[in-house]
Formats: sequence, structure tokens, C-alpha cells
Amino acid sequence: MSNLPFIPDSAPFNPAQRAWLNGFLAGLYSCAPELAISPQAAFEPRNVAVLYASQTGTGERLAKKVAKELKAKGHTAKLSSLDAYPVHELSVEECAVIIASTYGEGDPPDGAKGFFDALCAETAPHLERLEYTVLALGDSHYEHFCKFGVDLDQRLAALGARRAEPVVTADVDVDEPFERWKSALLARLETSAAPTPPPPALAAPAPAAPASIYHRDNPFYASLVEKRVLTAETSSKTTLHLSFSLAGSDLAYETGDALAVLPSNDPKLVADLLEAAHLSGEEVVEVPKLGSRPLSAALTHLLQITRLSRKLVDAYARAGDLKPLHNLLLPEQQTHLDAYLYDRGPIDLLTEYPGVVTSAQQLADLLPRLAPRLYSISSSPRAHAGEVHATVAVVRYRAHNRERGGVCSTLFADRAELKETLPVYIQHNKKFRLPTDSATPVIMIGPGTGIAPFRGFLHERCVTGATGKNWLFFGDRSAATDFLYREELEQMLAVGKLTRLDTAFSRDQAQKIYVQDRMIEHGAEFFAWLQQGATLYVCGDASRMAKDVDAALHTLIAQHGNTDAEAYVQDLHDSKRYHRDVY
Ligand SMILES: Cc1cc2nc3c(=O)[nH]c(=O)nc-3n(C[C@H](O)[C@H](O)[C@H](O)COP(=O)(O)OP(=O)(O)OC[C@H]3O[C@@H](n4cnc5c(N)ncnc54)[C@H](O)[C@@H]3O)c2cc1C
Ligand SMILES: NC(=O)c1ccc[n+]([C@@H]2O[C@H](COP(=O)([O-])OP(=O)(O)OC[C@H]3O[C@@H](n4cnc5c(N)ncnc54)[C@H](OP(=O)(O)O)[C@@H]3O)[C@@H](O)[C@H]2O)c1
Ligand SMILES: Cc1cc2nc3c(=O)[nH]c(=O)nc-3n(C[C@H](O)[C@H](O)[C@H](O)COP(=O)(O)O)c2cc1C
Repeated sequence: MSNLPFIPDSAPFNPAQRAWLNGFLAGLYSCAPELAISPQAAFEPRNVAVLYASQTGTGERLAKKVAKELKAKGHTAKLSSLDAYPVHELSVEECAVIIASTYGEGDPPDGAKGFFDALCAETAPHLERLEYTVLALGDSHYEHFCKFGVDLDQRLAALGARRAEPVVTADVDVDEPFERWKSALLARLETSAAPTPPPPALAAPAPAAPASIYHRDNPFYASLVEKRVLTAETSSKTTLHLSFSLAGSDLAYETGDALAVLPSNDPKLVADLLEAAHLSGEEVVEVPKLGSRPLSAALTHLLQITRLSRKLVDAYARAGDLKPLHNLLLPEQQTHLDAYLYDRGPIDLLTEYPGVVTSAQQLADLLPRLAPRLYSISSSPRAHAGEVHATVAVVRYRAHNRERGGVCSTLFADRAELKETLPVYIQHNKKFRLPTDSATPVIMIGPGTGIAPFRGFLHERCVTGATGKNWLFFGDRSAATDFLYREELEQMLAVGKLTRLDTAFSRDQAQKIYVQDRMIEHGAEFFAWLQQGATLYVCGDASRMAKDVDAALHTLIAQHGNTDAEAYVQDLHDSKRYHRDVY
């Protein structure tokens, strides 16, 4: 036979076994040549662990997709979240493909911290047997772009694992890098094939929860049926309550999920940008994957024009060979760069450094695709069937001589009329769910718009007759102007559906009072609830609030529990009793 040897060196056999198998297969194929497989068609099914670390579901969705394709190609794919995956199992895996998103300051998603700590510990297993590849999900607006995925890739290599393919980073728009990474992975698995017979018929993949036909690339146009301002006119900010009708769609959600909205930009900002670039807007431009459009339509509906990122500043600096911007991009200038990016947009580059953009296509190529905006759903599908609610703080500020607004929140506030339809889909968040046992007490900490999912939770617990106690910590600027959903909450408190409500109004006195101060104040009772098995939820600002609340949690546990607070909190995470939906 011309395609000897049949069993390659990489197959898991010792030399004697390999020689015996090669002899056996040679004999078999000489009797029955139709069974022989040409080297090109050779196939060795692989056992692949498909692992993901995901907070808002993108990584999980992609992992499911890759697992399905691996199975369709005849491989065995074991799908698991890193939350539930013991590190030592990696030492017996043959191949792992990992999709990992980044949060915080380049950290793993909440649930994957335990895994990564164990992987970084001195006791971590040796992984010489393992072949792996990582897809890192992130957003280059953040300083530590895709850091967790990259760190994971490096740590696996340091433990002796073999990198099948270099780490691929995906910047918000995940589809193209995902396809590129997946194709390289599948090709790699093909080329490591051996001429063993194909596996027996594969079991059908486990039935997945029915997915909606509506997603980012095919959103549902939901009618805006209610828009109400929750803050008083005299407040220093505006927070809206919105309700959309889901009638006519198959969209379904659970409390804890998020509503994703595909916004469109303010026509005034589009006009200002065109003027600054000396373009008319009628020029036709090509937008990758979306086709050709007049520039003004692309700027209105497809491209991000309210935010700046390091990547955009870098591309602009290179296009114009701009020394001040190159300097700002130096690693030691990171703090200045963060400040520069925070309250500026592409319009500032065009006005501060004119003459760099010389064509419509160049402008379109510089700008990233407009990303969907997520809003923690503030309704329960059982209390408001056919509707989905959101609680939105409107982003408005003045900086560098311009009045500015966030694209999506000002779309809701200023441009979207009642009955108008807006493109939406549901971003599921399986990690942020009420306890399955409805008798479990829950503690919810949600200042500002962080109240959103807890309104949904409370409605759900009322409608389903849950018997567990509910404790809400809410905080905002002033009781008189910013006590969101005050009437509803006080009513639920009056009838005992809300067991405790503790508020912290930061600007009603000379000294700031925040939700974490209330936690400490009521630390003994807080700890008693935890001892009774309460599940803890935190929602809202990630940059400061969530960290300070976490610190307060450690403090009160140490004070009232007389125990190792670090270990106690880790145990809350491990037993899925500490959940965060922070942004
Ligand atoms: C999982 C998740 C859940 C969320 N839930 C909610 C929710 O329930 N309610 C809610 O309101 N938001 C929520 N958000 C935030 C929301 O998705 C948007 O980020 C927010 O509405 C701003 O979007 P925008 O399009 O209006 O602003 P953008 O156009 O994205 O502009 C925001 C940018 O403006 C700049 N900026 C903002 N404020 C200021 C300021 N005061 N001074 C200077 N610069 C500033 C910053 O650079 C910021 O990145 C959630 C986010 C996530 C990821
Ligand atoms: N990453 C984001 O894009 C993001 C995240 C959250 C909010 N925001 C923006 O902020 C604006 C208002 O949002 P919001 O209504 O949800 O909340 P918010 O007004 O920013 O804050 C709600 C309450 O939390 C208090 N707070 C501030 N720092 C805190 C801390 N370290 N710990 C605990 N509480 C703290 C605030 O107090 P003081 O303000 O008085 O200090 C206020 O009382 C909007 O423009 C929103 O888009 C943006
Ligand atoms: C609060 C928050 C913090 C984030 N921090 C980072 C970060 O530090 N670095 C980064 O590259 N991406 C960051 N991202 C972007 C996410 O990693 C990115 O959206 C990813 O696709 C989410 O994947 P997931 O849905 O699987 O969790 C952050 C996103 C949010 C909402």
C-alpha cells in the first residue's frame, strides 16, 4: 500500500503498538482496498474541550457554535464554562479551545477568577499533553484590551501546553476574527488527522434552548410604548423608564437578561463631522460586511462617532504623522490618554488636527462599527407579558466647548417618539438569575440605574409568590429628585413583598453617603442574612461602586463573622451566591 504508515507518530501509541497496528491495517486494506483511506482524506477524531469565560454571553454563544461544528466534523467536543471547570482536568485533556472575554482592569469575567487563580498557583498542573488555542474577546476602548485572554494564553504556554494557533483577539465585532480563528483551528485538527476509520455515527447534539431568530444582524423592530422620566425636572441628571412591545416577535427573556439596542447617531453630530471633514455626505463608501452606502447614512446608522479609542487615535496619528498624538500613545502616557479619550470623540480629532482626512472612504475606514448598547432589563416577563422595560440614565455633558451626548441614551431621550420602532434583541445573562428555590433570601445592591434588574426581580418574586425575603439597597444623588421607582418600592415594602429597603442619597448632606455605608451600618443583619443562605446581587457602575461594595462586603464579614473574609467571599462565588451585573 502506498499510504503506509497508517498510524502517524503523533498518535497516542508506543512504537510496538504502532508497528502492530500498521501491520494489521496493511493486511486489512490489502484484502479490502475499498476501506483504505487516502492520506488526504485521513481522519482522526479528536477529543476537544471547548471552554469559555463569558459574562454577557458572547463567548458562550461562540463556544457553542464551535462545539457544534467540531461535532459535525466528527470530533468529540466537551463544552464547559471555566466557572465549572476544575483546573486539574486540563492535565488529562488532549486539546482545549478557549474563548475568554476580559472585564474590570484586564481581569477574567467574575466566574472565571477561581479557575485563573488556580492556573496561576504554584500547584497548577503540568500541561505537556495539552494542545490549545485561545480566542480573546474584548473592546479596544478599554486600556487592557483582551488582557485576560492573552494572559491565559501565556500561562498555558508557561505550564508546558503547546499552542496550536496563536491567540486571536476580537474587538467588539467578533464575527470575522471568530471565523478566522475557527477556520485555522479546524484546519489544524484536519492536518493532525490519522488514517483510522471514521467514528461510528455520532449522537445528535444536546438540544439547546430555542434561539430567537432575532440577533445583532437581524434585530427585531420593537415599538416604544412608554417613555417616562423617573427623575424630577430639578435633578442634575435625567433617568428614563422605557417600555417596548415585543408583540409579533419570538423574543423571550428572563429577569437578569439585558436588552440590546442598535442605536443611530444624532443627525446634528453627523452634520458637524461632515463639515469638519469637508465632505458632503453624498459620497458612496464601502462598509465591511455591510456593503456600500452614502457616507451620511453610514455615519448615522453604522459607524461609531461618539466615542474615541486608542486604536482610532493611533490610526489617525499614523495617517497624519501627528507627533503630539504619537506622544500621547506612549505607554508612560496612559493616564493622559485615558483622560483624552474619556470626554472626546472623533470630531475632536478632525477639528484639533485638520487636513488628515482627505476622502469619504478614509473617514469610513477609520471609524469602528457602531456597537449595540445593553440595558439590564427592568421588568419581569411574568408581570409584564409581551413587554420589556429598561431604565436608562441619559449621558449628557459639556466638554472642550461642545455639548455632547451618548448615542443611545440621547436617542431615547431626544429623538425616539412613542410608537416608533427601534432595532433590539435580547442578550441573555444566565449568570444573573434569581435562586431556583424561591424561599432563598436575596440581597440586592443597585445604586442609580443599577436598580434595573432588581425591579424585574421584585416583580417576578411578587407575581410568582416567592416566599424568600428580599432586601434592596438603593442609592442615588438626592431623595427629592432621584428616588427611582419610589412609589412602587414603598408599596412593595408596605405589603411585605420587599422585606427591607435601605437608601443612600449621596448629595443630601455635606458628606457623601453610599450604599456600601449602609451595608456596613447594618453589617450584623447583613451577615445574618448571608448565614441564612441569602444570595447576593450587585448591579451598576463597575469602575468604582462594584469595587467599593465588594470591599464593604469583606469588611462586614470580617467584623461580624469573625472569619476569613476572603475565603467566605470566595465561597459565596463558588456556591453561586454572589452575582454581579456591572458596566
Ligand atoms: C451589561 C450592561 C448593562 C447595562 N445596563 C444599563 C442600564 O440598565 N441602564 C443604563 O443607563 N445603562 C446601562 N448600561 C450602559 C449602557 O449600555 C450604555 O453604555 C450607556 O447608556 C451609554 O451609552 P450611550 O450610547 O448613551 O453613550 P456613548 O455614545 O456610548 O457614550 C458614552 C461615553 O461618553 C463618555 N462620557 C459619559 N459620561 C460622561 C461625562 N459625564 N463626562 C465625560 N464623558 C462622559 C464616556 O467616554 C463614555 O464611554 C449597561 C451596560 C452593560 C454593558
Ligand atoms: N461605564 C459607563 O458607561 C457608566 C456606568 C455607570 C454610569 N454611567 C453614567 O453615569 C450617569 C448616571 O448613571 P447612574 O444614574 O446609573 O448612576 P450615578 O448617578 O453615576 O450614580 C448613582 C449613585 O451612586 C453614587 N456613587 C458614586 N460613586 C459611588 C461609589 N464608589 N460607590 C457607591 N455609590 C457611588 C452616586 O453618588 P455621587 O454621584 O453623588 O458621587 C449616586 O448617588 C449616566 O450618564 C450613566 O450613563 C456610565
Ligand atoms: C464593564 C465592562 C468591562 C470591560 N472591560 C474590558 C477590558 O478591560 N478589556 C477589554 O478588552 N474588554 C473589556 N470589555 C469588553 C468585553 O470583554 C467584550 O464586550 C466581550 O465581547 C464580552 O464578552 P462576553 O459577552 O462573553 O462576556 C468590558 C466590557 C464591560 C461591559
